[in-house]
Amino acid sequence: MTPLLSVVDLVKHYPAGGARKVLALDGISFDLAEGEVLGVVGESGCGKSTLGRTIMRLARPTSGEIRFRGTDLAGLKGKTLKAARAEIQMVFQDPFGSLNPRHSVATIVGEPLVVHGRPDRAARVRELLDLVGLPQTAAARLPHEFSGGQRQRIAIARALALSPRILVADEAVSALDVSIQSQIINLFAELRRELGLSMIFISHDLSVVRHVSDRIAVMYFGKFVETAPAEDLFRAPLHPYTRALMSAIPKLPGSAAASGSSRRIVLKGDVPNLAFRPDGCLFHPRCYAMRDRCRHEAPELDPAPGETGDARLCACHYAGEDLSDTGASGS
Ligand SMILES: Nc1ncnc2c1ncn2[C@@H]1O[C@H](COP(=O)(O)OP(=O)(O)OP(=O)(O)O)[C@@H](O)[C@H]1O
Ligand code: SF4
Ligand SMILES: [Mg+2]
Repeated sequence: MTPLLSVVDLVKHYPAGGARKVLALDGISFDLAEGEVLGVVGESGCGKSTLGRTIMRLARPTSGEIRFRGTDLAGLKGKTLKAARAEIQMVFQDPFGSLNPRHSVATIVGEPLVVHGRPDRAARVRELLDLVGLPQTAAARLPHEFSGGQRQRIAIARALALSPRILVADEAVSALDVSIQSQIINLFAELRRELGLSMIFISHDLSVVRHVSDRIAVMYFGKFVETAPAEDLFRAPLHPYTRALMSAIPKLPGSAAASGSSRRIVLKGDVPNLAFRPDGCLFHPRCYAMRDRCRHEAPELDPAPGETGDARLCACHYAGEDLSDTGASGS
């Protein structure tokens, strides 16, 4: 079966002064099935938003393919691009920034319907408010009258106006309090169940993507370094970078993970500048498990040891090996 979305070797460069360039996306490939939720995690600046924006065609890819139901979006322009865009919508971190403060909620939510010439706007807006758990009285009010969580519901209603098949959520809950975060994450989960939506759920926070994702892609320096079903990733992370992210998640006192073996892995060095590309494995300057080979030989994103299909991929020469005695800076 053709996947709903198939991203093939997607590359996005930004100029960075002189001959330098930022490799914000450095050959990303993945499939997204109908109804599937892919979580994308990684530190600030690793290219997560660029991935979302490029798939949405808000940014032009340098090379590669973005196949939606078999049609490559990378080369589309004009009307065909506009039509394709209705199928993929995005929700951002700061809904207030993207909502006009002087427009009523009905206007904001209904705007995509106007742009795309869809009929029965008022009825559709009522339906959308219902879908995201807002009262009908919200329609006549202004965005500033709502709390952060409710504003995110407004933004989600607007993103759903054209009945997209894919929702790209970029740090959509990052600005919210933890209790509100889980309400909005639950809303995404409900929408996915009710509408059969596919989602790309982007966050710098692994614990945020955990419960909403079927599959998780861990991103570093413009590349996926590990992809796995969410449960498998949490049960047995393979890549040293994934292990480090995982070890930074606060554990509940008394939980199995809080006792004994799970040491915090503190990464060396800072979040990398993507204009300065190391040789070999891009992660080697910060990797606690780095060996000589890693300095000059870049690992491919290959099936994990013992795996054959592409269910679990990992880009590390020593994927899944017990690397705990190779100088991990545990604390
Ligand atoms: N329009 C642009 N022009 C030049 N460089 C850009 C542009 N957009 C992003 N970049 C660079 O591309 C890299 C990836 O940025 P991106 O915003 O995709 O990261 P991110 O993972 O979303 O980070 P964050 O977690 O902070 O949102 C960064 O080095 C950034 O500076
Ligand atoms: S290839 Fe080497 S440097 Fe890269 S993640 Fe694996 S062990 Fe670390
Ligand atoms: Mg971002």
